[in-house]
Order: sequence, then structure tokens, then C-alpha cells
Amino acid sequence: MRSTTIAAAALLGLSAIVSARPATDDASYQYTDGSTNENGQEAFDFPLDNGFPNITVPSANLSAIELASLGELPIAPNVTASNATASGPSTVDLGFVAFNELFEVAFFTELIYNITYNVPGFGPDDVGPQRDEILAILTVHQAQEELHVLNANGGFFKNSGGFTVEPCEYIFPVSTFNESIALAALFTDVVQGTLPDVQTTFGANQDVGLIRGVGLVIGQEGEQDGFYRGLLGLAPAGLPFNTQSAVDFAFSAIVQSFTKPGSCKSLDLLQHPPFATSGGLSLFDVLSTETDLGNGKEDVAGVVFSGTPVQVVAAPSAQVNSLITEAQCITYLNQANAPVTVSTTTKQVSNAVVEFTADFPGKILDFSGLVIAVVTQSAGQQEDCASIVFADASEVAAATKFGPFLFEVNNAVADLLSGSSSSTTSSSAYTSSASAYSY
Ligand SMILES: *[C@@H]1O[C@H](CO)[C@@H](O)[C@H](O)[C@H]1NC(C)=O
Ligand SMILES: *[C@@H]1O[C@H](CO)[C@@H](O)[C@H](O)[C@H]1NC(C)=O
Ligand SMILES: *[C@@H]1O[C@H](CO)[C@@H](O)[C@H](O)[C@H]1NC(C)=O
Ligand SMILES: *[C@@H]1O[C@H](CO)[C@@H](O)[C@H](O)[C@H]1NC(C)=O
Ligand SMILES: *[C@@H]1O[C@H](CO)[C@@H](O)[C@H](O)[C@H]1NC(C)=O
Ligand SMILES: *[C@@H]1O[C@H](CO)[C@@H](O)[C@H](O)[C@H]1NC(C)=O
Repeated sequence: MRSTTIAAAALLGLSAIVSARPATDDASYQYTDGSTNENGQEAFDFPLDNGFPNITVPSANLSAIELASLGELPIAPNVTASNATASGPSTVDLGFVAFNELFEVAFFTELIYNITYNVPGFGPDDVGPQRDEILAILTVHQAQEELHVLNANGGFFKNSGGFTVEPCEYIFPVSTFNESIALAALFTDVVQGTLPDVQTTFGANQDVGLIRGVGLVIGQEGEQDGFYRGLLGLAPAGLPFNTQSAVDFAFSAIVQSFTKPGSCKSLDLLQHPPFATSGGLSLFDVLSTETDLGNGKEDVAGVVFSGTPVQVVAAPSAQVNSLITEAQCITYLNQANAPVTVSTTTKQVSNAVVEFTADFPGKILDFSGLVIAVVTQSAGQQEDCASIVFADASEVAAATKFGPFLFEVNNAVADLLSGSSSSTTSSSAYTSSASAYSY
């Protein structure tokens, strides 16, 4: 029996990590504006030294990013430009892609900074003998993410009639190199599961010309993911079919967990887009768990999930969904399998906390890789939760009130050698840190 010791396992109970993090007071952090959260951690704030995200196309600064990225921002063909614009839903999803990629640029910029300046937890002993190679590779990934932003925001600008998705200020709930890489592996998993939802929206709205570009980014994120997973001692390709996700899950996860409340200038634009009569993105309340789920491969009865309001603005009273105590269900997504919904008992603990007790069917459902849990409520729901049929992640998202709770059932390479992958895998849970802040 080998128990892998990736620091990601420590992400169980993330809020504890957040409060335990040492205060950072390094004035040489060029990218911050000096604002901190209650734990003393500085928020990452754009622009970068090269002016990003405000990069002129073309410009010398764009060329420098392209050089670092090993490639180019897509070059448009010499065809007569169409004045047709994408549909409202497709344009909203382009905005989501820009929003997500901005968060990724912030993350990699800060990680590169931490390694470069030997910030405690990111020193040579933490990063290991491949430090220089890792730094060089992360620098490539960071530039590639910058181009992802410019591409998505360019499309968003054109199709929205001149709007641009602005960055937030970001706070990352990690304090060591391994935790950071585990978080990178987790969010690239989520992104790979979410971009097919974007493609589905493009297809459903006849915006076929946008599908290819997103597909080219899915594979790119998968290549990055394999690198991060390799550093963690995990199988580079962790699943035959990645776990399906939905745009509203990824959007909610970023806002709930990585942004400084009140700092996202484009939230309203994405939630209530003036250019899309069909509406915008949904932001759900926060779902975390009070129960140890172990390696995620076993059935755990009576898991207590807690729901708290997402903090988006300075006013603590701001709530996205009311904390309703009507019948609710927990729905699980894993791999490309049909969503599975289980019943819960619901208990209002306080004005700001509601608990959902439900079973975690890790063994029954053979959970592996990314597991997404959300609290769902179907319109006019009368039936047993277990009989509710959701076709896919989009339908689950349409019924979601709280979430996503993200949990990674890890498959370590060492376990492949010992032939015991079903019993010795470690796991990492990602619980939103939003509840740890009190703005
Ligand atoms: C980018 O430029 C716009 C328009 O000048 C400005 O409003 C915005 O604050 C800039 N963004 C950053 C991150 O500097
Ligand atoms: C281009 O990048 C340089 C640093 O490499 C920076 O000094 C300059 O301000 C940037 N230009 C613009 C227009 O932001
Ligand atoms: C498009 O036409 C311009 C001007 O003739 C030329 O410089 C450019 O290389 C062409 N681009 C492509 C992709 O063929
Ligand atoms: C696009 O161009 C065509 C032909 O020039 C024109 O008839 C149409 O009104 C234009 N559509 C928009 C949305 O501007
Ligand atoms: C960088 O290091 C600081 C200080 O420990 C930490 O708070 C932050 O989360 C780290 N960021 C990343 C992306 O690793
Ligand atoms: C980071 O994770 C790797 C892979 O699991 C492990 O070999 C290494 O010892 C860990 N480093 C630290 C400082 O915990």
C-alpha cells in the first residue's frame, strides 16, 4: 500500500489552508496594488508590465508575447469580412472564455513570480531539480494563456458590439508549489470539461464558425494538464473521457474561489449582457463539504455539504440564490456518464448556512478523476431525486442552486506499477474559499 503524498490532499478543507497562510508583505510584488484579504494575502491585479490585457494588435508587445508562446494569435484569412455577428448566447460564452483565461494568466504570472523569487513554499527544495525547465515551461504556458485571452476578447468585442471583459483581482488559495500545480491540474480539468459546453452552445445557435477555435484550445489545455499531472506523479491522461462540466459551473467556481469580492468589473456584463436578450451567465451559491470523502473511491453515507452565499460585492448581505430549505437534491457528474441525482435532507443552520446531507456514491459509481457535485432543484419537483433525469451538464446547470463542489479522485503512476490503483489513490478536494472571506 502506497499512499501518495501530493500536497493536493491538503486541499481538503481548503478554508483551513487559507487561514493558515502566512501573511505576505513583500512590497516588491510588482503586480499588486497593495490590497489584501483578511489573511494578509495580497490580491493579484492587472495590468502586467507589458500592458496586458490591453495589448494592441499588432504591436511590438504582442510580438513579444507570441515569441514567448511559441506561436501566434490566429491570423484571419483574406476573405471579405462578414458583418454577421454571433448569437447572444454564443457571445456570452466567448465572454466566459475571456473571463476564464484572464484568471489563468493571473495564476501563472503569480506562480512564475513565486518560483522566480523563491517565495517560501516555492523555493528550489519545493520545486525540485527540474526548477529551470519548469520555470521555462510555465513561462510558455503563461504567454499562451495571454493569447487565449486576446483571441476570446477579440471575438467578444466584435460580437458584443464593442464590450471587453475586464479582469478581476485574484487571490489563490495555495501556499506551496505542489498545491499550486494541483490547482492548475484541477482547473485545466474543469476547463477541458467546460469548453465542450461552449461548443454545444455555438452549435445550437448556428455559430458553427466559432467551434473550431475552441476545439483547438481544448487540446492545448489538455497538453498543459498532462504536464501538471506528471509533476504530481499522476497519470498524465487521467481518464478515457474527461468529466463534463458547464459554463456556469466554471464561472461560479472562479468567482467564488479565486476573486476578491467586489473586484470583478465585468460580472454584471456577463450576467446581464445588454447584447443578449436570452440572458447571461448564472452565479451559484457556494457548496463545500464538512465530511472527509477519503480517496473518493468509496461510498460515504451521510455526507454533510454546506451551502453558503457567494460573496460578490462588499455588502455581506448580497446573495445570489436565497437559501431555500425546500426539497433539494445533490447531482454528481463524473466522466462522460449520465448525471446521477441523489436525495438529501436539508437543514437551515443559520441565516447564512444551509446543510444538505446526502450519500457520496464513490464505489457504486466507480468515481475516477474529476467529480462535480451540485445542489439541484427541478422546477415543480415532486418526484424522488433519484428519478430525475438530466441529459447532460447543461441541464444540470439549469437546475443548480449551489456549487460546484469540485473533487479530484487521483490516479497515481506509482499505483499503476503496484497494480493497486483502486485502493491506494489519493485525492484532493477543492472547496471554495469564499466562505473564509468576510468582506
Ligand atoms: C485597459 O484599458 C481600458 C481602456 O482604456 C481601461 O479602462 C482599463 O482599466 C485597462 N485595463 C487595465 C487592466 O489596465
Ligand atoms: C510594452 O511593454 C513594455 C515592457 O516590455 C512597457 O514598458 C510598455 O509600456 C508596453 N506598451 C504598452 C503600450 O503598454
Ligand atoms: C492577405 O493579404 C495581404 C495583402 O495582400 C498579405 O500581406 C497577407 O499575407 C495575406 N494574408 C494571408 C493569410 O494570405
Ligand atoms: C450586412 O451586410 C449586408 C450586405 O451588405 C446588409 O444587407 C445587411 O443589412 C448587413 N447586416 C448588418 C447586421 O449590418
Ligand atoms: C504565491 O505565493 C503566495 C505567498 O505564499 C501565495 O499566497 C499565493 O497563493 C501563491 N500563488 C500561486 C499562484 O502560487
Ligand atoms: C511534491 O509532489 C511530488 C510528487 O508527488 C513529490 O515527489 C514531492 O516530494 C512533493 N514536494 C514536496 C515539497 O512536498
